Amino acid sequence: MALKTKVLDDVDEAAAIIRAGGLVAFPTETVFGLGVDATNAVAVAKLFVAKGRPSDNPLIVHLDSMHHWQLAARECPPLATRLMNAFSPGPLTIVLPKASHIVQAVTAELDTVGIRVPNFSVARMLISAASLPIAAPSANRSGRPSCTTWESVLEDLDGRIDAVVRGTTSEIGIESTVVDCTTDPPLLLRPGAISLEELCSVVPSVTWHTQVDSNSINPQLKSPGLRHAHYQPKATVVLFQFVSQVVDFPKDLERVGCCTLDTVEQHQCFGHYAKFLDVAEYARRFYEFLRQCDRAGCTRIYCQLAPNHGLGMALNDRLERAAKPT
Ligand code: TXA
Ligand code: MG
Repeated sequence: MALKTKVLDDVDEAAAIIRAGGLVAFPTETVFGLGVDATNAVAVAKLFVAKGRPSDNPLIVHLDSMHHWQLAARECPPLATRLMNAFSPGPLTIVLPKASHIVQAVTAELDTVGIRVPNFSVARMLISAASLPIAAPSANRSGRPSCTTWESVLEDLDGRIDAVVRGTTSEIGIESTVVDCTTDPPLLLRPGAISLEELCSVVPSVTWHTQVDSNSINPQLKSPGLRHAHYQPKATVVLFQFVSQVVDFPKDLERVGCCTLDTVEQHQCFGHYAKFLDVAEYARRFYEFLRQCDRAGCTRIYCQLAPNHGLGMALNDRLERAAKPT
């Protein structure tokens, strides 16, 4: 079937579409993003419709250099600068006080803005060519697994967006770490590719929101996106920690997927099976594995949890949300 959305290799053409108020998906090292001019209210409104995204879930603004933070924020406290110097460009989003020219809908009416500089040349070339702050959520239909290939972007969004910049499979495979630097101590709102351990090696006071007294700060209010359904395939996701714990694999495994770090003996019986070498490979291939299972018509996907530290903490967060009933 002919595609309605353009597939581009030329970042200048992609940048021109964004400058004209269009929607363009592009590759980053974490997952593909869906880019729009963060200063154009009409274009931003189109993006929420294209994704089917709830309007109370704020978007991350992407920049081509941390030196350009004033394109999106009005203040950058010293702790934020320390984190950015250590991890940017890269899979880190810092939440700062918002600058007034970023349209209100981008930040879901919050007075704060998340900013990130991707560590992927195509993405940075696109942002430089557009010469704009670019708001970009993950380039998937809202609630679905994120996309790590341009083909998956089209599976969700063909005909709903103007173009996708081709590009290689995302190297990390799960989204950036989100840290709110408008509070002291800074709060980890979403675990991601930069681990809590790594953040604390630079700013020891960074605190994960679940460790904060729920009466004093409500992360659901600070990051409203946390409350929505996320990363969910059509199939039901079932989590397990150790292979030996799973006693109730169904008899007919043809329409069942399974992905693990440890070997599962009956793995040949699964319609779809993946054994990952390590947590990094698991993270890189996880979303695409969920999508492959959906394409194959699987009704259930068994997924092994990762050891809960480093990148494993972020992966487990995605696994738990993928498994959450809607
Ligand atoms: O790796 C990534 O971060 C990818 C790529 C494309 O850069 N983007 C991404 O965007 O994952 P999205 O929209 O799928 O997730 C953005 C997350 C949400 O959890 C949202 O609530 C949070 O960032 N966020 C954005 N702005 C915020 C703000 N001002 N305050 C608190 N949380 C914010
Ligand atoms: Mg997303």
